[in-house]
Amino acid sequence: MLNNLQHQKIVIAGGSSGIGLATAKLLLAQNASITITGRDQSKLEKVKNEFPTLKAVHLDSSNTQSLQKFFSENGTFQHLVIAVSGAKGGGPFSTLSLADLREGFEAKFWAQLQTIQAALPYLQKDGSITTVTATSSSARLPGTSGLAAINGSLEIMVPILAKELQPLRINAVSPGVIDTDWWNFLNEQDKKATFEQFSKQVCVGRIGKPEEVANAIFSLISNTYINGTILSCDGGLK
Ligand SMILES: NC(=O)c1ccc[n+]([C@@H]2O[C@H](COP(=O)([O-])OP(=O)(O)OC[C@H]3O[C@@H](n4cnc5c(N)ncnc54)[C@H](OP(=O)(O)O)[C@@H]3O)[C@@H](O)[C@H]2O)c1
Repeated sequence: MLNNLQHQKIVIAGGSSGIGLATAKLLLAQNASITITGRDQSKLEKVKNEFPTLKAVHLDSSNTQSLQKFFSENGTFQHLVIAVSGAKGGGPFSTLSLADLREGFEAKFWAQLQTIQAALPYLQKDGSITTVTATSSSARLPGTSGLAAINGSLEIMVPILAKELQPLRINAVSPGVIDTDWWNFLNEQDKKATFEQFSKQVCVGRIGKPEEVANAIFSLISNTYINGTILSCDGGLK
């Protein structure tokens, strides 16, 4: 059965840019009731100005108390999408800063788990959770062992949570290299070179767009028979 998302309440944690924002736009077009969260107030205000029907809330997913307060005030809702992360934890293992990797875990693994736990009491049982992981979990690319650990840890929990939380559904979308602000730790020249390099490793010959990942997220939310699944959206990255 396909879920009609019209008027359904959907929270997108990390919805002020990139994949989360593309998902918000797609779901707004379905007349869903969207709340996005993020930490940078100016990004939230920009989105709110462009899409006045959406709610934009300042919320740090690494702060448990703020999460609990937000979800108790938000009340019952149907779907949670989680697109939060930092960008630390990448690089060759021999020189990888373990302090950076810890930060990477804090910003993505722990922030995502905290968000799910805080949301659970308010999620309707016929609803869903969709978390955004990364194809680094399985692509076996040199320089991504730390990112693989963060994202693999999340992905390995998904099928187990599907059993524990049933009938509430939980899935993950695992993107490849996508052109978003996530890459802004690189200067323009390095970003261009990195994207060109990855394009050669992707079967479709290019990096991805946030709208393509948003479409994958939409499939998982709307198809009520998909559960406990990790859906790759990486153009065939090898
Ligand atoms: N882009 C890629 O190539 C790629 C590949 C694989 C996986 N992913 C994953 O895709 C997800 C979305 O990333 P993206 O590429 O769309 O990057 P992005 O444009 O940087 O989006 C990240 C979003 O999360 C928010 N955010 C980050 N930390 C947060 C926190 N602690 N609390 C609340 N909001 C937070 C950001 O807003 P603020 O900065 O205002 O907080 C922003 O709205 C991430 O989990 C990332 O790891 C991305």
